[in-house]
Amino acid sequence: MHPMLTEFLDKWIWPTAPGAPGAAFRLRITKDKCVKGWEIALVSTLSEIEKGLASGNDDWKRRIAMGGYAAEGVQMSIKQMSAQLLSINLEEQEQYLDLQRMRARQVWDECKHSKLHAEVLMEKGWIGSERDLLGNAAAHTQPLPAYFGLSMMFPHIHPLARAAQHYFVETIACIGIAAYLSRVDDPMVRHEHLSQRDEELMHMMEGKYIIDTYCGEPRDQQAVEETLDFLLHRLRVSL
Ligand SMILES: [Fe+2]
Repeated sequence: MHPMLTEFLDKWIWPTAPGAPGAAFRLRITKDKCVKGWEIALVSTLSEIEKGLASGNDDWKRRIAMGGYAAEGVQMSIKQMSAQLLSINLEEQEQYLDLQRMRARQVWDECKHSKLHAEVLMEKGWIGSERDLLGNAAAHTQPLPAYFGLSMMFPHIHPLARAAQHYFVETIACIGIAAYLSRVDDPMVRHEHLSQRDEELMHMMEGKYIIDTYCGEPRDQQAVEETLDFLLHRLRVSL
């Protein structure tokens, strides 16, 4: 296993709260399914970074900032998190109150993400201001339509289905950030990633907390595992 992944797992994934009813389930799906996906994602991010660094120019930084702008903030994350606030029926709100609070906090935090990418594009002189992106289709083309569609389906699947996405996909974000910080010196690229480090970790911790706290019974585990299976399929991870 890549040492960067080992470090992340030891620090954030393996520790469990004593007596957490869903912890055994989480550790099983982590070992059987998640780790393989995370390793593939980390290796591919590191190789993208190495390719960029070896290219001898800054175009890869522009592509990452454009892609990030299109896939984050206003274009995706705020809508996605807002829709997920509705994924819990009124009569279940009290049971899942802490979960709703975590999501509301995340909606607030999403607001900065696309701005970080816009700052890179501006500082490097690729755009004058964020308004320049309005007419650029690449700045508004989100590369994972099924991922977005699934996010919008969570209200109809199960109140806890979103936990799989938080736990699995946002861990990829966390280790991706660690990869950039370990390889890249450019202060704007570091800022673009470092400023999201704790925010992405919070997503992952929401997923971890939900699975550990609420997924002690098979009926609550099923929706999480099925969502995870779809995400693995979408990312073409064969187990
Ligand atoms: Fe986020």
